[in-house]
Amino acid sequence: MQSINIETESFLKLIQSRRTCYQFLSKENHPIEEQKLQNCLQAAIWAPNHKLTQPWLFWVVGDEIKPELADIYADNRATKKSQTDPDCYEYFYEKALQKFLAIPQVVLVGQKLSENEVVKNEDYAACACAIQNFHLMAWQQKIGVQWSTGPIIKDVRTYQKLDIQREQIEIIGALYMGNIDENCRPKIPPKRKPVNEVTTYLK
Ligand SMILES: Cc1cc2nc3c(=O)[nH]c(=O)nc-3n(C[C@H](O)[C@H](O)[C@H](O)COP(=O)(O)O)c2cc1C
Repeated sequence: MQSINIETESFLKLIQSRRTCYQFLSKENHPIEEQKLQNCLQAAIWAPNHKLTQPWLFWVVGDEIKPELADIYADNRATKKSQTDPDCYEYFYEKALQKFLAIPQVVLVGQKLSENEVVKNEDYAACACAIQNFHLMAWQQKIGVQWSTGPIIKDVRTYQKLDIQREQIEIIGALYMGNIDENCRPKIPPKRKPVNEVTTYLK
C-alpha cells in the first residue's frame, strides 16, 4: 500500500464542504489555471471502474467551439422558457447565450456505451465516481463545479459538434466550472440525513 498523509478530519471536511456551484468569478479576471484543470482530469481517471473498462471521455471546451455550444444551450433554454409566449424567445435566447459564454470553463463528460446492460450500468457508476473525483479535486483548488444534465447533453447538435455517435458514446454531464466566488451562497443549502438514519448495522 502506498502511504497517504491526508488527515482524516481535513479529508472529511473537504468532502462535506464541497457544494455544487452556480456562480463563478469572471473568466477574464480569474481564469482557471491549466495545471489545476489537469489535476481535476488526473483525479477523474483514477476513479474505480469494474474490469478496468475506463469508460469515460472528456472534452475540454475551447474558445472556438464554445459559442456553438452556447447557441445550442440558449436555443434549448429559450424554447422552453418561451413556450407560453413565443415573442420572448429572443430575450431568453440572448440571456442564456451570455450566461453560457460567461462560464469560465466547460468540460463535457461522455460514457463509452457497452452493449452489455450490466456493464453499461457499472460504467455509468464508474463515470459518476470520476466526476466526483474531478469535483473534489476542483474544490480542493478553490474551483467550483456544477454537474449539469441539462438539455445540451441530449441535443443531437451537441453530438454532431463533438463528432460522436449517440449509440457509441453518451454525454452524461456538462461540468460548468470556475474559481469560487466566496460571497456566493449555495442555491441549495447543504443538507443530508444523518448517518444513523440511512445505515443499518447488521449483526
Ligand atoms: C447525476 C447528477 C445530475 C445532476 N444534474 C444537475 C443539473 O442538471 N443541474 C443542476 O443544477 N445540478 C445538477 N446536479 C447537482 C445536484 O443538484 C446537487 O449535487 C445537489 O443539489 C446537492 O447539492 P451539493 O452538490 O451542493 O451537495 C446533478 C447531480 C448529479 C449527481
